[in-house]
Parts: sequence; C-alpha cells; structure tokens
Amino acid sequence: MSHSLASINTPLASAMNQALETRRKHQIPVLDLAKPVPAGPDVYTNDFLSLTNDPDLRRLFLDKLNKSPRVFGVAGSRLLGGNSSDHLDFETRMARFFESPAALLFNSGYDANVAFWHSVPQQGDVIVLDELVHASSRDGMAISRASKSLYLFTHNSPTSFEECVLRAMKEHPSIGQGKNTLFVAVEATYSMDGDFAPLPDIVRVVEKYVPKQSAHILVDEAHSTGVFGPQGRGLVHHLGLQDRIHTVLHTFGKGRALTGAVFVTSPIIRQYVINYGRPFIYTTALPISLICGLNASFDYLEGPVGDYRRSELRRLCEYFRAALEEALKPFPSNLLSLRDRALPAGYPSDVISPITPIMTSYPMQLSDFLNSLGYAVQGIPYPVVPRGEERIRISVHALHTEAELDALVVRLTQWGTMMQTMASQVQARQLQSRL
Ligand SMILES: Cc1ncc(COP(=O)(O)O)c(C=O)c1O
Repeated sequence: MSHSLASINTPLASAMNQALETRRKHQIPVLDLAKPVPAGPDVYTNDFLSLTNDPDLRRLFLDKLNKSPRVFGVAGSRLLGGNSSDHLDFETRMARFFESPAALLFNSGYDANVAFWHSVPQQGDVIVLDELVHASSRDGMAISRASKSLYLFTHNSPTSFEECVLRAMKEHPSIGQGKNTLFVAVEATYSMDGDFAPLPDIVRVVEKYVPKQSAHILVDEAHSTGVFGPQGRGLVHHLGLQDRIHTVLHTFGKGRALTGAVFVTSPIIRQYVINYGRPFIYTTALPISLICGLNASFDYLEGPVGDYRRSELRRLCEYFRAALEEALKPFPSNLLSLRDRALPAGYPSDVISPITPIMTSYPMQLSDFLNSLGYAVQGIPYPVVPRGEERIRISVHALHTEAELDALVVRLTQWGTMMQTMASQVQARQLQSRL
C-alpha cells in the first residue's frame, strides 16, 4: 500500500479527493492522524476527574485483573455466547447505583444512542430534540420509525421547547389521546459550550402537557456522569430528577477514563433493545478486562477520592473562570472572550461546567499558537460552529494545579496582545502607504 490516495487514478479516489478538497475550500481542517497528541499540559481531553494517569486507580484495576479468572474478550456478542456473569453483574451494579429498575451495557455511547433511537420509537411517535444533540443520537433518529417526526427546539431554550411540544401534540393528536409517545432528547451538559439543559423546565413542560403514559424523556449524561451528583451519579441525580426522567445514558469514555456506556431505563426497554437494537445485537461484547476497569473506576469514584476530585474540580473551574474573566477584559470580544454562564432555572449554584469555550474569530491561529507551546488544543472554526461562534475548547481537570491554569491564561493573553500588535502594525503600514 505504497500509493498515496492522490496518485491512484480511480473514480472512487477522485470522488474522495474532491470531497476532501471541498473541506479545505471551506476551511474545515482535513485530518490525517499522522502524529500522536504531543505530550503537554492536558487542558483539552474529557478526563475531568484526572483518572487516566492515576496510579491508585491503575493499581486497583491491575489488582482486579489479577484476581479475575478471565480477562480477555468473550469472543461473541452478548446474544451469541458472550453473555458472561461479569457483564450481567456489572449491569446489576449499574441499575442499583443509578437507582433504576434496569441497565443495559453497550460498547460505546455511540452504539447506545444509535440502538435506542433507531429501535425504540414506534410508528406514530415523535421526538422533540435540542438542535445540538450529539451525532450519535441524530444518526439513530435518522433511521428510526420517527425520522419524519423530529421537532428541533432552539438550543437550551425552554420557550422553544414548550412551543415544539405543543406543535408536536397538535400535529400528532394520538399523543394526547395516550396512543403514541412523545420522546425528548437532551444532553445534561453540551460538549461544545459546556452549558446545561434546562432539565427542571423540560420536566415541568412534559408533565404539564403530555399524558404520563405518553412521555419519555432521555438525558444523555456523557459529559456529566461522574462529575455531578452524589458519588458521581450525574446531573439528573444532582437535580433530584431521577424519578421523573425515563432513560439516562451514562458513557464511560470521559469522566470514567475507559470506554463503553450504559442505559439506565425500564426493564421493557432493556428487553426490547436486546432484541431490536442492532448496535447491541451485532457486535462482540466488551472484554472482561474492560469490565474489571469499569468496576475499578466505579469503586474508586464512589469513595472519598470521588468526592475530593469533584470538589477540587468545582473549585478549579471557579478559579479558572475568575482568572479568565479578569485577564480577557482588555480584549475585544471577537479576539478573546467568554460566553455568559448563567445556569438554567432551578439549578443549584454549585453546578459549574468543566468545559470552557474561549470565543475567538481566529480559532486556528490561536490553536496553532498554543500547539507550538505543547497544548494540543483544537481550533473549532466555521462551519463546524456558526460564524461568530468560533472557539477553542478548554476542559479543566480535578488535579490541575492553579499554576497550570495561570500559565494557560498568560499564554492566552500573550497571544491576544500579539494579535493586537500585529493588527496595529498592519494598520500603520496601510496608513503610511496612503500618505
Ligand atoms: C453527548 C454525547 N453522547 C454520546 C457520545 C458517544 O459516546 P462514546 O464516546 O462513548 O461513543 C458522545 C461522545 O463524544 C457525546 O459527546
């Protein structure tokens, strides 16, 4: 395979090259994964609780592996020889921990969302979704029986949500008659903005208008599981809404430092997805080693370490936010600014997001500057986000030091000052050439 794609003269290669060229033309980065992420301060991954390099968690994990009779894969899907007692015991643990009647384990959050959304909504059902829900949910919805009945509401707007629910019910009277289901799809914390779904308002609106038997709210806790709630049960628990939300997705790739995901839901949904959810059925089950890791991660975070990390994370997020607010004041908002961080109605003030978008019209220049200093942050340009919303995304971790966060703030202000100096030099040159 020594040919580069560009040198292969086939219709397929030329179609693919053309597509990549279109990306370049729209200034969407064309990625190649040629180099590993450089070692440097990690202010960009979703390792919110600083677990990925934790020596104590590593010991706990290795200890579990040593004691486990089996560690490799199960060489089959759950439905074809792969249903080990380790998988079942872990699901029982998850159901108990998240205070839910049932839990179903998936190889990834992507698989879980596609499995749920492609299989669970039935003919005549509708889905009301935040316009920014993750691609995995959208992919599942696109091939679901409700794919033609999607109602997108403006991101995090309770007013728009209420309008959508009322419109969906008007256009689908069978929901009000209790013959069909209105699903709601939201994320507790959104990846790009780090902002929070207005969960109390969403629950209130659904309970006000939708008959109890016809409502199904699903909250994706990919960015909030482990980080919020007692023992890290997530934002739904933090807000005390666990008895009023029907299904919650917890993924293990971010705050739990592994991979995989679990839906906590009703026994009938669990059984239905086992039989109809294609990404559940047609894939090899997670290896036992991963279940050992997940058990280690949950053991670790259920104890005092979890409470300490969560409170440190909160403290450092406040610290970083305050430092940024002060340091970015002198800069025009299109160069460097923060987003408003008002919490949705009904949220306690101790909820603070570990994700901070730093808004700039020059995201690629800023990320290049930070990359040259060893920070592997990525610029998020238009059209990945709408024009005027370009940014870089920083995530604070529980074991960052204040000095590390201070150093990043200094780098940001250095870049801002440099950009301003360059802009005024260009202006001076233009003025001179006109004289
Ligand atoms: C909101 C949300 N849901 C689901 C997923 C998919 O989870 P996983 O990475 O476990 O496939 C992601 C991953 O980025 C996500 O951000």
